[in-house]
Amino acid sequence: MSKTVHYLKDYQTPAYQISETSLHFDIQDSQTVVTATLQIEPQRSGESLVLDGSAELLSLKINGEAAEYCLADEKLTVENVPHEPFCVEVQTRILPEANKSLMGLYASGGNLFTQCEPEGFRKITYYADRPDVMAKFTTTIEADKTRYPVLLSNGNPVAKGESGSRHWVKWVDPFAKPSYLFALVAGQLAKTEDTFVTRSGKTVKIEFYTAAADQAKVGFAVESLKHAMKWDETRFGLEYDLDIFMVVAVGDFNMGAMENKGLNIFNTKYVLADSRTATDSDFEGIESVIGHEYFHNWTGNRVTCRDWFQLSLKEGLTVFRDQEFSADRASRAVRRIDNIRLLRQHQFPEDAGPTAHPVRPASYEEMNNFYTMTVYEKGAEVVRMYHTLLGEAGFQKGMQLYFQRHDGQAVTCDDFRMAMAEANGINLDQFALWYSQAGTPTLDITGRLKNGGFELTVKQSIPPTPDMADKQPMMIPLKVALIKRNGEAAAFTYQGKTVEETVLLLTEAEQTFRLEGVAEDVVPSLLRGFSAPVHCRYPYSEADLLLLLAHDTDEFSRWEAGQTLFRRAVADNLQALAQGEACPPHQGLAAAVKQILNDQTLDAAFKAVLLSVPGSSELWDGADNIHPLHYHQARETLLDTLAQACAEELAAVYQWAAAQEAESGLAQPYEYHPQLAGIRSLLAALRLLLVRTPQGGGYVQQYSDGYEQFARNMTHEISILNAVNHLDNEAAAQLLADFGHRFADDALVMDKYFALIGSSHRSDTPQRVEAALQHPKFSLENPNKARALIGSFSRNVPHFHAENGSGYRFVADKVIAIDRFNPQIAARLVQAFNICKKLEPHRRSLMSAELQRIAAQPSLSKDVGEIVGKILA
Ligand code: TRP
Ligand code: ZN
Repeated sequence: MSKTVHYLKDYQTPAYQISETSLHFDIQDSQTVVTATLQIEPQRSGESLVLDGSAELLSLKINGEAAEYCLADEKLTVENVPHEPFCVEVQTRILPEANKSLMGLYASGGNLFTQCEPEGFRKITYYADRPDVMAKFTTTIEADKTRYPVLLSNGNPVAKGESGSRHWVKWVDPFAKPSYLFALVAGQLAKTEDTFVTRSGKTVKIEFYTAAADQAKVGFAVESLKHAMKWDETRFGLEYDLDIFMVVAVGDFNMGAMENKGLNIFNTKYVLADSRTATDSDFEGIESVIGHEYFHNWTGNRVTCRDWFQLSLKEGLTVFRDQEFSADRASRAVRRIDNIRLLRQHQFPEDAGPTAHPVRPASYEEMNNFYTMTVYEKGAEVVRMYHTLLGEAGFQKGMQLYFQRHDGQAVTCDDFRMAMAEANGINLDQFALWYSQAGTPTLDITGRLKNGGFELTVKQSIPPTPDMADKQPMMIPLKVALIKRNGEAAAFTYQGKTVEETVLLLTEAEQTFRLEGVAEDVVPSLLRGFSAPVHCRYPYSEADLLLLLAHDTDEFSRWEAGQTLFRRAVADNLQALAQGEACPPHQGLAAAVKQILNDQTLDAAFKAVLLSVPGSSELWDGADNIHPLHYHQARETLLDTLAQACAEELAAVYQWAAAQEAESGLAQPYEYHPQLAGIRSLLAALRLLLVRTPQGGGYVQQYSDGYEQFARNMTHEISILNAVNHLDNEAAAQLLADFGHRFADDALVMDKYFALIGSSHRSDTPQRVEAALQHPKFSLENPNKARALIGSFSRNVPHFHAENGSGYRFVADKVIAIDRFNPQIAARLVQAFNICKKLEPHRRSLMSAELQRIAAQPSLSKDVGEIVGKILA
């Protein structure tokens, strides 16, 4: 297949709009016949009608008459169509049971589901499958009564009937929508019902559909939805707009969930939970994904994207909204730090690698490859910068103008930016560069006391990326404060106001800012709250960092001071290891860690994040000639050093936190509760260090002896298994084996089991991963399973980067196998190879050989082809 690249600059408005789309699904045992009746409205005369599609075409009629057409390259072209509105009737046959791509209409566990975003609708019928074509949909589904008792689509059910063994339901969605928001579900599903009364007094029916056996695990998701509905009313003034909101859970799903109008479809991972089988982070994930999809109803559905280049218009904004929802629910500071860790671990490397692209990409081959960390997470940081610049009130004014102008439309990131600017009477022209320039900017900052003020000189630079060499300076909000040596904040005057914190607005490559009225020695606290998605460098002394770590009132900056100390310590270890010397004892850092451990005023969850050492992908971000195992060893050695230096304190805090949980006074200590989750996250962080102490072996024994007690709660259970997962001993292996037997019938827990196998540093991991592939509960066709075993193996530094290339070969084999039936998942997994060009020569050549082998596959998908092409370019 020849390669087709789509460019933003080529955008043209559609030549044909569709006002009404009426679909009829005739579901039979092994095939489904779809009849689509489209009311077409020409926008420009003289152009041929082109519809996207890849399904088997049975017939095509225009205004009731068989029409001539040309079918090539998944496009159906009809010449000489009427100039007046006309009707197209197209009939297709599809085979959902054979569809393993999980796009379009597919079968999972005997039921049928759709996934249409971004271009799955064209696998169902022939259509103008682009988001700026918005139609009112009517859907009739007809199927066997016993095999498919539940028949769902978007909007409201308006009619139903039956004849013999078959029945049908007709759904009408009153809101015009693009095809990517279409959904259909058919099968045997149990319904859990609830209601929500909107602030204007409308009662909305809530319906969750799951396998009957899973109904007991749906309660938390239902509650999360009601919290989300309420929150969107209070914080954003946005109400739900249909009479019914449905959520369906499916075990085979390519991503987390999908915001289809009125009929969200979810990966079971983000719906089903109880404290026996789900961890606290699983509960938190459910709350945030339920929120995310619900919030799309306004940011995505009511106002949608003009074209797929604008994806971040809905995703960046909706991630920002779900982040704020979670932060308003509980633990704002820790949630913020978790978001920043995710960004640094995954988005920064993406932005520095071969697949780097702007928040609004300028081109793509396969749109599925652009549901990225950059579009979602950096996109959310871009939205957060408006919020930082405008404040909550100004931001909400911008949102109101956005909805006032664009409700019911398909728009661009520029439209959003203009609404923010014009509602606040400010100029945000330069801010547009955040959407068009890829690469993480670096701020190099110096500071000094001069003439009664503190002077900060800030240089910004944006690295070249494969798509663009030279970049222009951007508009960057830099939130700062000054900390006195006694730990108190220093007041200063900036732009006529005396304050303890301010936002400096960077607009030039180099700028100097004067904070007036400062006479004494201070340490600047920079990029507070992570006010922009940038690298920030300042020549802090160790004493400066220890001061910030102990006293900064901004939790991000405080945490960041600790992270910088950890990064420097790993760098010192790397150097020592390279020179064949012993690693330093890091006494200063160990003392700081003890201080954190002993600090009674610190919140447990915050204490846990303070103790987290940056992961490898973050540590080698920006480096060249990377020897992954050296980074791994430098990091492991630091963890051992700190654990051994703090062994007593670790044990004492562990006892304290365990008692806190037991005595919490919260009625059911093992249920999910944000405060208990915080304590349990501290216990988890402590366990990871405790196994490295001289008493570590004893702890393993204690875990296995006390297993029944720990294992009443999945958070504890996983944290124990995580802590012992790398130990090369039988007791540890036995714990995991028992776990696998105990939960053999719970698919979501088995994902955890396979992830533990894939991520273990034990020497026998390659053999155990091979064995897991043959496990009766494993299937490469299930994305959750593939991600759990293969995905986690590809992040397992010592094994993926094995000296002999066996890790690379293994992952390449699986990419090739999965690409034959699910290109979207294969293209995700192959991004483990993004680091290729930055590796030391030996591994670089091993990895490129595997990439060449993938590239040479005869029927490689364009998904994998695009990624591999970029890595090898
Ligand atoms: N729009 C969805 C979300 O952000 C994600 C999504 C996009 C998706 N494409 C998908 C989900 C394909 C599953 C499969 O929540
Ligand atoms: Zn989304």
